[in-house]
Amino acid sequence: MRLIIYTGKGGTGKTVSACSTAIMLAENKYSTLLMSSDPAHTLTDALVMPDLGYEAKEILPNLQALQIDPLTEMNRQYTTILSYIASLFHARGIDETLAYELAMLPGMTQLFSLLKIEEVARTKAYDTVVLDMAASGEALRYLYFPKLVGSIGRKLTGLVGMFSGFARIFQPLSKLPTPPQNVMQNELELLARLEELNMIMRDQNMTSIRLVANPDTFSIENAKRAFMSASLYGINVDLAIINKILPTGSSDIYYAQWADFQRVKIEEAKSNFYPLPVKEVKLHGMELRGIEMLRENGKSMFENQDPADVLFRGNVFNFTREDSLLRMTVKVPFTEKDDFDVERHGDQLTIKVKNRVGYVANTIPLPVATAGMKLSRAKLEGNELIILFERIA
Ligand SMILES: Nc1ncnc2c1ncn2[C@@H]1O[C@H](COP(=O)(O)OP(=O)(O)OP(=O)(O)O)[C@@H](O)[C@H]1O
Ligand SMILES: [Mg+2]
Repeated sequence: MRLIIYTGKGGTGKTVSACSTAIMLAENKYSTLLMSSDPAHTLTDALVMPDLGYEAKEILPNLQALQIDPLTEMNRQYTTILSYIASLFHARGIDETLAYELAMLPGMTQLFSLLKIEEVARTKAYDTVVLDMAASGEALRYLYFPKLVGSIGRKLTGLVGMFSGFARIFQPLSKLPTPPQNVMQNELELLARLEELNMIMRDQNMTSIRLVANPDTFSIENAKRAFMSASLYGINVDLAIINKILPTGSSDIYYAQWADFQRVKIEEAKSNFYPLPVKEVKLHGMELRGIEMLRENGKSMFENQDPADVLFRGNVFNFTREDSLLRMTVKVPFTEKDDFDVERHGDQLTIKVKNRVGYVANTIPLPVATAGMKLSRAKLEGNELIILFERIA
């Protein structure tokens, strides 16, 4: 199974890009499933068709689609765990409604949407699965949860263990009710599913994230953060799409100005996402929706390329530890001969490179691990920039 995930800031075109890709895949004879974890109707609005349910429905030959309902997914496994945790909190005097809120960690809802992937993979029913996913790196951290918990002592240290630990902090002397058997069973199953999901997501031959942005600062910055967090979690990103580009050459000054601004942003995006391939998609003359238009959009996006291919492979950002040093390696589009400069501003790294017209700046969001560290050195080796961070004494 090949899994392609489209992500990006709100309104950039994740849903339409996912739909166009899925249609192309189906036409290339891949048995394809298109899924969206967005609120209801997203896919039906884009495809212009009657309501899709939570079960896969055929919409074209080789193409099925379904809307994921995070609540249904969550109820399957997490409700028993959630109720138990909430009861622990409630027993400590926390209002019951609030107890449920506290027991729900950030990104949890999205995690349950992701778990649908694991279920779909188990059925082995599809060659390609395309997921339209709202951007949030928060859910990705749970992929590592089974690792943290380990395989021994899982019964005592899973989510339930973590939360009962919390409850103990609140009131150390109190005795906590032991979790009922069904809670433990659900927890073990959940950990097993997470482990499987982790394997799927981190298999670079199987899974790719594709970033969708528009030619504007905000959505490009958002995609850069998604790029970094995917890299940190070990998930391959194989493409960036800059969608909704205005045509150049307009005689109208208003449009011409916008088009010029967008050209600058596209060039910036290319250097920011280097060495990822970047596809440019025009802003169509009208709202992009309906199978016909989405198919045309897909054709111009991929031309003769197979959308199922892994379009890029390789770790763009790499982090290694050497005692008190953190070594970050970044692939960059310039060489020793160029004049470049590296600076750190808070949680961002700015790389400035001089070209014919002046300096082009590329900012990279830094991982949390660099928080207590200072930038100590930057050097270029081939087309890799090596940046050393040193622990502040
Ligand atoms: N290249 C394009 N040309 C014309 N219209 C477009 C293009 N790309 C997207 N649109 C339109 O922009 C709107 C937003 O697109 P879409 O719903 O795919 O974005 P999204 O990233 O999925 O949004 P959300 O974050 O709300 O899920 C839709 O009305 C869509 O038809
Ligand atoms: Mg959408």
